Amino acid sequence: MLSDKKVTRFKNTALKVVGINLEQKWGSKHITDKFVLAYSGGLDTSVLIKYLQEKYNAQVITVTVDVGQQEDIKAAEEKAKKLGVLKHFSIDAKDEFAKDYIFPAIKANALYEGKYPISTSLSRPLIAKKMVEIAEKEGATGLAHGCTGRGNDQVRFDVTLGSLAPEMKIIAPVREWGMTRDEEITYAKTKGIPVSNAAKKYSIDASVWGRAIECGLLEDASQAPPEDAYEWTTSPEKAPNTPEIVTIQFEAGVPVGVNGKSMVPLELIEEVNKIAGKNGVGRIDHIEDRLVGIKSREVYECPAATVILEAHKDLEKMVMTRHEVLFKQQIDAEWVFLAYAGLWVDPLKDDLDAFINKSQENVTGEVKLKLYKGSLQIIGRSSPNSLYDKNLANYNIKTSFNQSYSKGFIELWGLQTRMYNTLKKANKKKA
Ligand code: ARG
Repeated sequence: MLSDKKVTRFKNTALKVVGINLEQKWGSKHITDKFVLAYSGGLDTSVLIKYLQEKYNAQVITVTVDVGQQEDIKAAEEKAKKLGVLKHFSIDAKDEFAKDYIFPAIKANALYEGKYPISTSLSRPLIAKKMVEIAEKEGATGLAHGCTGRGNDQVRFDVTLGSLAPEMKIIAPVREWGMTRDEEITYAKTKGIPVSNAAKKYSIDASVWGRAIECGLLEDASQAPPEDAYEWTTSPEKAPNTPEIVTIQFEAGVPVGVNGKSMVPLELIEEVNKIAGKNGVGRIDHIEDRLVGIKSREVYECPAATVILEAHKDLEKMVMTRHEVLFKQQIDAEWVFLAYAGLWVDPLKDDLDAFINKSQENVTGEVKLKLYKGSLQIIGRSSPNSLYDKNLANYNIKTSFNQSYSKGFIELWGLQTRMYNTLKKANKKKA
């Protein structure tokens, strides 16, 4: 039980906390808000700069985080400055993204609904983290992002930002302003915001782990994506006529080399993107269940992710016991769901990471793959920790696999199955 004194003290502290929250939450007419905005240089977030300045009377600090989206970061910076931001930060987070976000996803064989390597999802918690770091340094009062109310990204930003900076105001004006894409383009034009041709045709989001292409013709799920939707992959028809063999070296569950050459995480992913992309490997077209209940037709190109995840999964099966393989599938499914669903900072993800990291200790070895005109085939693997023993499989060594034991094993293994079927037969006869 708390003493009265303690209760009063607690109440006061609580009130103080609420007080701060309310002041920051609702602001004051006299204080201009200072927002840190996650800025991509694209249409939504460019319109947002003007909107925050005009409708919120706010000062805007933009942050562009380079996660390997292969967009012109410098151009985004110049565009932000032209739109009158207070300050702009360009942050190169590619190495951190590869090491601390993509590598854990590789260990977890992360494919949402069996298809999508969560190339967008993974980048959101990192961008949110960078936003909060800058907001704290710059004494900002709020955080803003350009997500719509239909997608998953709003969930990822709101949950991560709200967890890392609970005292700050978090706003997503695109969710409320109700402008259509065409209206945004018109608004942009009237405010002198440059609109690129690409922005008119597709909505793109990319990280070094993959590129997501949305909008326009792609919304008709029955139609094949036009060729111009793709930028990182050659069309399989135009890919080289000879297969390319590539080997990936793994150490403790993460890739460390390509064709025998050691590489740091980012360099390795970029290299595999090039090799696989050239051979037309990594195009994904599927129907995806968003968190908010919408089914969406998603088109991605994720060359490195497709190759590396396939190789990793194969190597795991060589070194893990069957019990580990089957149990880990459940853990992996939960992990990818959390990462997709915006719960990167939930403690459950840390708990799962602890299991996954331990499970990767023996995942060392090499996987050989054949890439050919859009197809990907695993053609070999080896590991110092292999549980595959070609002698066992060939039944050559009597001492380590005694075939006569199998008879007894099967007797017990099928006991209940035989009982059930015998009973069924007997009951049928009776009827
Ligand atoms: N459906 C994917 C996801 O939720 C990709 C979203 C792409 N995001 C975007 N803003 N265009 O992760």
